This record gives sequence, C-alpha cells and structure tokens, in this order.
Amino acid sequence: MSVEQLKKDIIEGYRFTGGSIIMGAGRIGDEILTDHLVRIPLKTLNRHGLIAGATGTGKTKTLQIIAEQLSTNGIPCLLMDIKGDLSGIAKIADENPKFIERHDKIGLPYIPDSSPVEFLSLSDEVGVRLRATVSEFGPVLFSKILDLNDTQGGVISLLFKWCDDNQLPLLDLDDVKKALQYLTNEGKDAIKAEYGSISSTTVGTIMRKIIELEQQGANVFFGEVSFDPDDLCRLDSSGKGMVSILRVTDLQDRPKLFSTFMLQILAEIYSTFPEEGDLDKPKLCIFIDEAHLVFNEASKVLQDQIETIIKLIRSKGVGIFFCTQNPTDIPDSVLSQLGLKVQHALRAFTAKDRKAIKMASENFPYTTNYVVDELLTSMGIGEAMITALNEKGIPTPLVHTYLRAPQSRMDILTQRELDDIIFRSMIVPKYQNKIDRESAYDILSGKIEEAQSEQIQEELRRQNEMARPTSSSRQEKSTFEKVINNSTTRSIGTAVAKEITRGLLGVLGIKTTTRRTTSTRKKSVFPWF
Ligand SMILES: Nc1ncnc2c1ncn2[C@@H]1O[C@H](COP(=O)(O)OP(=O)(O)OP(=O)(O)O)[C@@H](O)[C@H]1O
Ligand SMILES: [Mg+2]
Repeated sequence: MSVEQLKKDIIEGYRFTGGSIIMGAGRIGDEILTDHLVRIPLKTLNRHGLIAGATGTGKTKTLQIIAEQLSTNGIPCLLMDIKGDLSGIAKIADENPKFIERHDKIGLPYIPDSSPVEFLSLSDEVGVRLRATVSEFGPVLFSKILDLNDTQGGVISLLFKWCDDNQLPLLDLDDVKKALQYLTNEGKDAIKAEYGSISSTTVGTIMRKIIELEQQGANVFFGEVSFDPDDLCRLDSSGKGMVSILRVTDLQDRPKLFSTFMLQILAEIYSTFPEEGDLDKPKLCIFIDEAHLVFNEASKVLQDQIETIIKLIRSKGVGIFFCTQNPTDIPDSVLSQLGLKVQHALRAFTAKDRKAIKMASENFPYTTNYVVDELLTSMGIGEAMITALNEKGIPTPLVHTYLRAPQSRMDILTQRELDDIIFRSMIVPKYQNKIDRESAYDILSGKIEEAQSEQIQEELRRQNEMARPTSSSRQEKSTFEKVINNSTTRSIGTAVAKEITRGLLGVLGIKTTTRRTTSTRKKSVFPWF
C-alpha cells in the first residue's frame, strides 16, 4: 500500500484528452487524496458498465451522479426506475452542509443543479405512454412473454410469417386473437398446404395464455402509438441531455415481463439507430437499476439475446449500465462486456457471500495498492472501487474512490412537482393523441364478416341452383381466399411501411407505421405494469 504510488496511478491513469465525468477523489486507508480525481472518459461509455454493491451502499446515488453529469455533457439517458427513487434528478439538491464537506474533501466545488427530465410510463399512469405493437415484439419475444413452449412458439412464428406474407399488421392482442381464430377456422385449409397445419389444442392453449396476459392488464402496453426511440435522444434548449425516467415500479414482481420488455426496447433502439463510427461521446446511455430482475428469471434464450444485443448496440453509440447488488447477478458472458466497474461495499454473511466477494475482487485489474477483498467489505457508504476503460480501451487502475454527492435532489419529487413536469412535456401529447385509424383486427373482422355473408349468399344461390338442374359446377372460394384476394385487404399492404428485422436475433418483427386509435383500446382493471 503506497500513497505515492496511488497518486501516480491516478495522475497518469485518469488523465484523458477528451471529455470526462468526475466520480470523486482517490482514497487509501483513511486518507482522501484531495484533487486526485477519478474520472470516466465519455468516449468509452458505449462500452457499458456495472454498478454493484450491498443494499444501501450508494448504487442508486452513483447512477444519479453519472446520469446528471452525462446530461450536463449533452448525453441523454434512459433510467429504468424500478424502485421509483430517481425522480429527484429533475430538481436542484436541497441545501446540505454534508455535501459541501464531502466536496471539500474531494477538492471540488459543490454546485447544486438539475437535469431536464421526461417521465415515461407503461401503464395508465401519467407521463409519456410507452407502447409497442405485437409485430415489434417479434415471435420470439412474444412467445417468451406468453411463456410458451417450443411447439406453441412455432405456431406464433407461423402466425407472424402468415401476417407478414399477407401484410396484416399485428398491433395488439386483439389482432393476434383474431388472426389465430381465423387460422384455425376459415383460413385452416388455405394455410395447410403452404405453412402446415396448426393443432387446435395448441391454439387453444395460446388463446388461454393471451387471455391471462390480458387479465394482467397487458392491453395497455401493446398497440399504438408505438414509441419512437429517437425521442430518448433529445437535448433541451441549453444543450443538456434529456433524462428519461421510465417508472416500472409495478414490474418488480413480474421479472419475466420486465426482462422481455427491456429487451424489446433495446432491440428497437438497435434496429432504428444508425451505425456510428468512433464517437467522442455516446448518443444515449441506458441505466437498469435492480438489474438482477432482468437476469434472474430470464431463460437461456433470452439471456443469449441480451448478450448479443449488448455486444451489438455498442456500435450504435449506446452504453448500457447495470445496477445490482452482486456482480454474480449478471451472467459472466454479459459481465465480460462491461468496461466500467463501480463496486460499492459487499457484505459477507455466508460462505456463498465470501465466495462472491473473492470472485468480484478477481475480476478487477490487478493492483498492489489495495487488498481488494478486504476493502470490498469495509468501504463506507458513498464510496466505491472504480475501474473504467481509458480512451485506448485499456482498463484504468483500480481506485478506492470517495464519491461526489448528487447535484440534484436525493429525495423523490412530490406529486405536484411530477404533474408539473408532465404538464410541460413536449412529447406527452404525441403519444396520447388519439389517431382514428383502422387496425388489422378491424379490417380482418370486417372482411371475414363480408366474406361470410357472401358465403351465405353464395350458399343460398347454390341451394337455389341445386333445385334447378345445371351443368356448371362452380369452384367455391374459401373465406381466406376472399379476404386475401380482396383488393381492400391487399391495399393494407401498401399502407404498411414494414421493415423486417426478424432475421436479426429473431427479436423484432415488422415495424409498422399504421397507427391504432387509443380510443378503441379497452382499459384494464388490473394494471399490468
Ligand atoms: N455519493 C453519495 N453522496 C452522499 N450520500 C450518499 C452517496 N451515496 C449514497 N449516499 C447515502 O446513502 C443512502 C443510500 O444510497 P442508495 O439509495 O444509492 O443505496 P443503494 O445501494 O441504491 O440501496 P438499495 O440496494 O437499497 O437500492 C442515500 O440515501 C444517501 O443518504
Ligand atoms: Mg438502489
């Protein structure tokens, strides 16, 4: 342990030519190395990161410290706020002598500040409503959300393919139910030759699962107007990056839904953002608090997809930061992708804890300045071991850091403050607009009804003709053929600007630009999220 060596490491290892954010000052033993600042270069923030530590050690505040500085540097952020404790970022911190004292030790003036915030919601709560169409979920994720087995998932893939081929956009759950119903009745014979037959028992199970999902309130999430990820990348008039806070408190007890939903957002961002070269700073940073929820229940398939997308999204200039109690909550394959590590104190109650601590300390760059596993259990609140990637992509020296305090409020906003921000939002109206357009459901049901009544007429005509002897034997058209061959149905295809990205990860489906009216959506008694 050498103070001089650590000072040298900080001066050399944390000097960057480009922009950076300041995390705090180096610490060794009881000594806080004033003016020896630990920074993170903006350039490598698209290499993702981890904020870990036992409960109450300061992970969420670290997330706040990073997000508010990114915003100041013109980098927008998306925060998944599972516990609902991040709203304070929108307001200047209350006066607090302890913060001034903390910053004096660091050698940094304490300047309270706030960030421009947009509140997003997945339910009927106020805020920007986040929705996605079933098509945007794609067959793989949609099957996951319904917890389907491989055979049932196969039917969903077939359904998506059939809707793709026939340019029928699947916007919400009603569309899926209608299409399934159609494929097991009127359309049965017609699809058999080209796509294979579908077991009605399997469809029955899928239908039941969809109804269960509806009972959980899923209708509020599926449908239009679907969220445009570009809206996450806005700057305010002073050039600060917008901090979008997605309140997902209701998702805590539905980890599978949360992980699926998160992957859908990431996949959507991936598919819509252009490929970026080497940027000086990321385009967007995403923070996932309580990230163990994403991985705990995620199946192998979902985990593989998360891993793949994390690898790929980097090139779009997007950084993802996981916040969780223990690094072991994150699968090794994902952990190895994370460039920034902010490790708060860990607690050793059990043999398993001690093993986890040992593992965590072995994952850091080698250091002679600290006995890492000992330090991991003894660090104070608002302190962390930090290593980032320097501008060349090499890990910076591991430094026990005495962290700065948030510039914004540590406490949450009052309902009135929240309402006021939502009232002034530029994009809330965009997603609340009720656009009256027909959905696939409406068109398909209309056509089925039309075709069915035609069929009845036809049948009546046939029966009348049977009564009279005739030589012509007419070829009957199935309802399916009538629907599909009908010129109005065909024209849906041209109205749907589709971008098939299903090949990519099997995650996404067709991106439709057809919008579904919110007025036709039923309200759920049991909010899903
Ligand atoms: N950087 C900091 N500056 C000043 N105080 C801090 C800092 N970090 C943490 N604290 C103090 O520690 C408390 C707990 O921090 P925080 O909520 O971030 O912990 P956490 O690790 O996210 O806990 P949990 O696992 O329960 O979510 C804060 O309310 C604050 O009082
Ligand atoms: Mg927390």
